[in-house]
Amino acid sequence: MRQEGTTISEDVIVSGIQPTGELHIGNYFGAIANWLHYQERYRSFFMIADLHAMTLPYQPEQLRSNTEQLAIDLAACGITPPRSTLFIQSLVPEHAELCWILGCVCSFGDLTRQTQFKEKSLPEGSDSPGRFISAGLFTYPVLQCADILAYHGTLVPVGKDQLQHLELTRDIVRRFNYLFGDYFREPQPLQTDAPKVMSLNDPERKMSKQNGARHYIGIFDDEGTIRSKIRSAVTDSGISEDGEMSEGVANLFRILNACGKNEQADQMIGEYRDGSRQYSKLKEAVSDALVEMAAPLRKRRQELMQDREYTLRKVRQMSLEARETACKTVAEVRRAVGLPAPMER
Ligand code: TYM
Repeated sequence: MRQEGTTISEDVIVSGIQPTGELHIGNYFGAIANWLHYQERYRSFFMIADLHAMTLPYQPEQLRSNTEQLAIDLAACGITPPRSTLFIQSLVPEHAELCWILGCVCSFGDLTRQTQFKEKSLPEGSDSPGRFISAGLFTYPVLQCADILAYHGTLVPVGKDQLQHLELTRDIVRRFNYLFGDYFREPQPLQTDAPKVMSLNDPERKMSKQNGARHYIGIFDDEGTIRSKIRSAVTDSGISEDGEMSEGVANLFRILNACGKNEQADQMIGEYRDGSRQYSKLKEAVSDALVEMAAPLRKRRQELMQDREYTLRKVRQMSLEARETACKTVAEVRRAVGLPAPMER
């Protein structure tokens, strides 16, 4: 059904983020920086993935307020119409419908190999869950696949942690097209230069909100908080005997580069290699760069907070627009897989 002779301008960007708390610099440098870049060039759909946030235990009121706050926070970052459609996933129920259909062309074995399910379902250092694990957590990559395919997404800006999910999406597309005729295109990931930002206090793990406040930097954090969190970041012993930089130090350089301070980072790496640079200087440089980046975002957010309702109304409106596209896809998919045409609403 897809037109032949696809050109670059036909590419569609789709990505999402869970409303599980404040945005951190891992989200920003791993994904949102690319959202901002590519929304200027392509048709873009960005969703607040509230259905995904239900896969782990949560509080209903918290989910609702996190979803609204994230809408405002993403708008403060510059994710705004007419450049892109910013919407709430659950306001487009076709995602869940498409998820069911795609779940029937996704193999159980492929889902069992998803490392994120293993990480999220097992407490650290244990091989038994010891708590309630939802089926939703297990099938979540299929919902992510539906999120992308509902809009015929071809380019998906995500951090490195999402690459396996994207590979699964490509497997599902291949199987779907094999069974029901060429319909979907295989989406490709778009990575930034800092595809994985690590935790400040446990640099072997990715930066995440789930590990507690000292592990991440929020992109709206104030200067004092940024400086104090960076000051206490783990650096270990720097360059080991075999000349390898410790993960903690490498992470700080990664952040400095991600802030666009490449020259400064290169110079400091040189000083590290010849042993003449102290951690305190590196930390100061990283803090300065983050403060500089966060200040305008904080200001914009404060402005938007003055009229929260206006932004939220716009996001609801954009969700309706997104739904029109998703409904069209689902109607075509229903026809292809042998389901009756959807009834008029
Ligand atoms: P989520 O909410 O965990 O993260 C949102 C985005 O931020 C990236 N990210 C990171 N990048 C680098 N370093 C880190 N420490 C780091 N932590 C998070 C993630 O890679 C992601 O791009 N399932 C997805 C959301 C989603 C989605 C989609 C993505 C829902 N539907 C459709 C793409 C397409 C998630 O949980 O992201």
